[in-house]
Formats: sequence, C-alpha cells, structure tokens
Amino acid sequence: MQCLVVFLVSILALTLVQAGTNKYHQQWLQFKKEHMRFYRSLDDESRRYDIFQENLQKIDEHNGLYDKGLKTFKMGITQFADLTSEEFKDFLTFKPSSGVERKARTLFQVSGNASVPKSIDWRKKGAVTNVKDQGICGACWAFSVTGSLEGAYYLKHKKLVSFSEQQLIDCATEKYGLFGCNGGELDPAFQYIKENGAETESNYPFEMNDDQCHQNNSLIVTKIKSIVDVESKNEDALVAAVGLVGPISVAIDAEPIQFYRSGIFQSESCSQVELNHAVLAVGYGSKNGQDYWIIKNSWGTEFGENGYILMKRGVNQCGIALQPSYPVL
Ligand SMILES: *[C@@H]1O[C@H](CO)[C@@H](O)[C@H](O)[C@H]1NC(C)=O
Ligand SMILES: *[C@@H]1O[C@H](CO)[C@@H](O)[C@H](O)[C@H]1NC(C)=O
Repeated sequence: MQCLVVFLVSILALTLVQAGTNKYHQQWLQFKKEHMRFYRSLDDESRRYDIFQENLQKIDEHNGLYDKGLKTFKMGITQFADLTSEEFKDFLTFKPSSGVERKARTLFQVSGNASVPKSIDWRKKGAVTNVKDQGICGACWAFSVTGSLEGAYYLKHKKLVSFSEQQLIDCATEKYGLFGCNGGELDPAFQYIKENGAETESNYPFEMNDDQCHQNNSLIVTKIKSIVDVESKNEDALVAAVGLVGPISVAIDAEPIQFYRSGIFQSESCSQVELNHAVLAVGYGSKNGQDYWIIKNSWGTEFGENGYILMKRGVNQCGIALQPSYPVL
C-alpha cells in the first residue's frame, strides 16, 4: 500500500513537472496512448520523454521550413517518435545482397519499341493489397517480396491475393541467408518461393515473431518461374520496369524517413549506397515539376501518406535504384 502511494505521488510529481515545463506534454500523452507505450520504470519513461521532445523539436523546425516553401515534405509524429535515430536504425534490418549473387539472375530489358508511360499508379489498377504492418518484426524484406508477388499474381490471374510474410519468416531461413524478424534480403526470398511456392496471408497469417515453419504444400497458390533484377543505379530502367511490368521490390536507406508525414521526400542525409529497408515501388508521376516515386511501406496506414511515401525520382534518392528486383510467374 505504501509503495503504491509513493508510486502515485511520484507519478503525480513527474506529471506536474512535465506539464509545467514544456509544450509537448499533451502530444506525449497522446503519443503514449495511441502507440500503447508502457515503460518499465519512471526513469525509462523520463528518458523516452526526453528523446520525444528532442524529436518533436526537430520535426517543428523542419515543418517551419516546409511552411516557408523550403522543404518538399512534411514531418510528423510517427510510431518511432520516442526512439533515437540510432535505435531507429537498429530496427532497419534489410541486408543488402552481394553484387556477385545478383549477377547470376536475369536482367530486366526493355523491348525496343515498348513505350514507357509518363506516370503510373498500380494501386488504381487493383494490383496492390492494403498496406500491412510489420510491427516490431524486422522482416521488411518479406513484405517487399510479397508485394511484388501480389502484383505479378494479379497481373497474370486478374485476382488480388495477399501472400504470406510469415511463411517466408518461418521457412526461408539461414540456408537462404535470411533471418526472419532479424532481417533478410530480396532475391533469396524470391528463390525460396521459386523452389517451394507461396501460401496466402489468410492461410499463413502474420505473427510478428519468428515461429516454426508450418508450410502446408497443399495450400501453395503459386510458384515463381524466374527472378529478374533491374540494372543497378539505372533509374530509367527502374521507371521502365515499374511502368511496363508492375510493382517492383526495391531497397532504400530509410534512416531519414523516421518522421516522414507527407509530400515528396528528399534529403541530403539519405545514403545512396547504404541500404537498410526493403519496400515496394508501386508507381511514379510528377507534380509541380517534381518527379516522384510512389512507395508502399510496411509500417501500417498511420505512417506517411496512408502508409505510402512519395520519394524524389531521378536522383537515386536513398539508393532506390541500387537493387530492384521482381518475380516472373
Ligand atoms: C514491337 O515490334 C514488334 C515487331 O515489329 C511487334 O511484333 C510488337 O508487337 C511490338 N511491340 C509493341 C509493344 O509495340
Ligand atoms: C493442409 O491443408 C489441407 C487442405 O486445406 C488440409 O486438409 C490438411 O489438413 C492440412 N494439413 C495440415 C498438416 O495442416
């Protein structure tokens, strides 16, 4: 009982101190509620609150520049607002593949007379499933792979099917150089589906955890015939692939998108060589003279523009043109 009273009094004291001293208190309460944060101790919470305030200051400064027309995208509070950029980086677990391995695959080629559309949005053509949420599981690679598989399957069979990430997390393991919720890459995951086939999301639902493989071969819906790589650093080839083929799996440096809210993302601090997050290019276009990519992310619909990121196109922004690939069914 005494403990409880002391505990309550200290919460009250902390609350009063926080409420009295800064402008971010309401947003902090809302953030904790929305993202169901329960910290282990008051010390832990107070450290998280400090990080949150520093992040919000950064966001406010950025949005001040946005309001003056000096930035092309807006920032906001995301589920990562109580993480330092170092901690956020730890969450990004895409492992870039070695160039050697990619060279063994088929390379995407535009047939001579094919005309690449000026813009395209595969969502409008029904080839893209709803935005998914990987939660705290670092399996972006699996979400990127199911994304291009879903597109290819739709374009071949005229039926939109959501495919299973959990099957890849559980079954496509170390042997393929993949590590479930601890990270992975794209082509080996396609290779797994080529050899073993893919189950649907509803038959093999997402658990946000590594689990035992329980693939059921009588529930395999499709296999992959071949894996195609788009030539590295050739963004025109990536435009042609997205324009002519369908949604394409890509990898990016996602460190600077921790607080992305809306608009066309571009940043000088984005690396063009260090990839750490796999996503899905589902289209491209131009707005007010600015060329952009439409990127499907796997951080839920609350992130960015309903789960999507618009990203500057034509400058290999965040390394988007480094390792694109897709399956052929
Ligand atoms: C490209 O040209 C070839 C030969 O003239 C023709 O058979 C084919 O249909 C053309 N493809 C497209 C996409 O126009
Ligand atoms: C595999 O799926 C089939 C078809 O739905 C079902 O009859 C069978 O019981 C499943 N096997 C296992 C081991 O779950």
